[in-house]
Amino acid sequence: MSPTITTNEGHLKYQFRSLEKLPVKIWEDSVAASAHVAKSIALAIRQKQQEGEHIVLGLATGSSPIGVYKELVRMHREEALSFANVITFNLDEYFPMPPNAQQSYVRFMHEYLFDHVDIPPKNINIPDGTISMEEAEAYCEAYEKKIKLVGGIDIQLLGIGRTGHIGFNEPGSWQDSQTRLVRLDNMTRTDAIKDFLKADAVPYRAITMGIGSIMQARTIYLLAWGHHKAAILRKAVEGAVSSSVPATFLQKHPNAKVVVDKAASVELSRIKTPWNVGMCEWDDELISKAVIWLSQKLQKPILKLTDNDYNDNNLSELIIEYTTSYDLNIKVHNRLQHTITGWPGGKPNVDDSRRPERAQPAKKKVIIFSPHPDDDVISMGGTFLRLVEQGHEVHVAYQTSGNIAVHDYDAGRFIEFMREFGASSDILKDDAEQFISKAEQSLRKKTLGQPDIPAVRKIKGIIRRGEARAGARLCGLSDDKIHFLDLPFYETGSTRKKPLSKKDINIIAALMEDIQPHQVFAAGDLADPHGTHRVCLNAIFGAFNQLKEKDWMKNCWLWLYRGAWHEWPIHEIEMAVPLSPAELYKKRRAIFMHQSQKDTPPFPGDDEREFWQRAEDRNRGTAASYRALGLAEYEAIEAFRRWKF
Ligand code: F6R
Repeated sequence: MSPTITTNEGHLKYQFRSLEKLPVKIWEDSVAASAHVAKSIALAIRQKQQEGEHIVLGLATGSSPIGVYKELVRMHREEALSFANVITFNLDEYFPMPPNAQQSYVRFMHEYLFDHVDIPPKNINIPDGTISMEEAEAYCEAYEKKIKLVGGIDIQLLGIGRTGHIGFNEPGSWQDSQTRLVRLDNMTRTDAIKDFLKADAVPYRAITMGIGSIMQARTIYLLAWGHHKAAILRKAVEGAVSSSVPATFLQKHPNAKVVVDKAASVELSRIKTPWNVGMCEWDDELISKAVIWLSQKLQKPILKLTDNDYNDNNLSELIIEYTTSYDLNIKVHNRLQHTITGWPGGKPNVDDSRRPERAQPAKKKVIIFSPHPDDDVISMGGTFLRLVEQGHEVHVAYQTSGNIAVHDYDAGRFIEFMREFGASSDILKDDAEQFISKAEQSLRKKTLGQPDIPAVRKIKGIIRRGEARAGARLCGLSDDKIHFLDLPFYETGSTRKKPLSKKDINIIAALMEDIQPHQVFAAGDLADPHGTHRVCLNAIFGAFNQLKEKDWMKNCWLWLYRGAWHEWPIHEIEMAVPLSPAELYKKRRAIFMHQSQKDTPPFPGDDEREFWQRAEDRNRGTAASYRALGLAEYEAIEAFRRWKF
C-alpha cells in the first residue's frame, strides 16, 4: 500500500497502515473541537433554511456535547443563527425521572441549549421519564414513528460511555435495536453518582433510542474528551464490531465521524505506538517513549535491549539513526536517571545542568496550589515534606472550599458540637445561633441531590479547612503559609460549577504577586475537560498569562503533579522524587487528617480504594516501573512534569 501523508496529529511522518475503522479527527482541546462541530451544525441549519426546509438534530446530554451547545448559543446571540427550522430528538432520559428534577435530561437541555435559542417548543422531543412501565412500549414506538414522520435525523450527536454505550445502549444491545426501556450498566450508574450524589439514587433504567435508530441518522458525530475515554475510544475505533462495545456498530455507518481531544486520543495506535503504523518524526520524548515501551513489552531493563529487540519490534528506524542499541539505551537510561532527585527545590552548591531544578536560589519561595483541600498531600505529600525540611519558604493555597464533598452527617455532628459548646459557654451570639439553626433546618429538610444553602456550605467548608490545616501543619507549615482561596466558580453547592471568571484568575494572580514564587506546583490534570482540577489549572494558566511581563516571573517555574486518579506516563516525567518508607508513612498520616474524605467520600468515583491507598499504590507503582526499566529501587516515587509557556 502506498504511504499516505497524515495531518500533524501526533508524531507520524507517513502512515503505512491505519487500524482505525472510523475517521478520527484529533483536536488540541475540547473547546476547539466543539467549535468545529458546532460550525458544521450551524452550516447545515443555514443551508436548510435557505432551502426553506427544517433540519432534524439528534441530541445527547452529558459532559461531551456541552461545548457544542455553548458555541451554538454563542452563534445564536452573536451571529444571528436561528433555530426556528430546527426539530430535535434527544437520545435518552433516565427512568423514572420527573422533568423538573435536578438530574433530568429535560432540565439539562433547557439549561444548556433550548432556553437560550429560538427553537419552537413544539419542535423539542425528549423521551418522557414520567410514563408508567406499562405505557413504555407504545410510547417508544410512537417516538420512533415521530422521528420517521419528520424525515429522519440529519445530524446525530453522540457521547460515548466508558462501557462503550452510545445513547444508553449498553453492552449486549443489538444492532437493529429501536427506542426502548433499558437497564443501565453498573459502570454507567457509578459514573452518574456525581450528578445524583448518592449511589442508590441513580435510576436503574432509562429510555433510549436504539442502535438501529441512531444508525438511521444521515451524519453522526461521536465526541470524546478526556483521558478517561481513551481506552474505550480505542476499542470503538480499532476494535472488531461487537455488541460488547456498542459504539463499534458505528463502523458500519457510511458517515460517522469521531471528534476527540488529545487526551482521549492517547490510546489510539497512531498516538500510542506510532512506530507500529508508520514512519515517525523522532524527538527526544518520542524516543524515550519508544524505548520505554520496548523495555516494558519485553520485560527487560533498558540497558539490556539489543539491536534485534529493536528490529523485531518495528523500531529499526531508531537503530539506523543511532547506529547501535548501545548508544540509544544509554541515552534514554541517562535521561530517566536525571529525572530522579531528592531535592525537589534544587540542590544547593552543585552543578545543576542535568538536574530537574535549579540550584539557585538555594532557598526558594514555593506555592503549592491544591484544587481541593487534600490534593496537596495526596498527590505530592512526600515532596511537600521535603521542600519544607530543605528550608524553602513553602506556601500552600487551597483553590476551592471543597464543601460539596462533605457528608451531611459530618456537618450535622459539627453543628451539634457548636450547639453544645454554645450552651455551656454562652459564646454563641444570637446571629450565630440563627445561622446554625438555619443550617440545621435545611439539612433536616434536604431532599436528595438538592444543593446546600450557603450556611451549610460554610460549615462544610470550615470542616475541610480544619482538615487541610492539620495536614499542612503535619508537613511543617505555619498557619501564615496556609491560604484558602475559595474560588467563586466552585460555589454553587452542586456538582455543576459556574464557568471560570476573571475573579477566579485575579485571586490566584494576587497571591502569586504577593509571594513572587520561584516554584509553583499545580494539579496538572489536563485530561479532565470539565472537572474542578482542569478549571483550577486554567485559573493558574490565566494568572501566569496575566503576570507574564513581571520581572520575577522570569524565575518562576511551574511544575505539574497529577491528581488521585492517574500518573504521568514514565516518558513524560521530568522530576521524580523518591520517598523512603518513613516519608511514605508520614504522607499517609497527612492524608489521614482529611477525615471527612475517609472511608466513603461523597464522590468516590469507581475506585473503591481510599485516597491514601490510591496514592501509595500509585507512588509505589512509579517506583516499580523505574526499577523494572533498570534504575535504582525505591519505596515510592512522586512524579512531576514542568510546564513551559
Ligand atoms: C447522554 C447519553 C450517553 C452519554 C455518555 C457519555 O444523552 O446518551 O450515552 O453520551 O454516557 O457521557 P459524558 O459525555 O457525560 O461522558
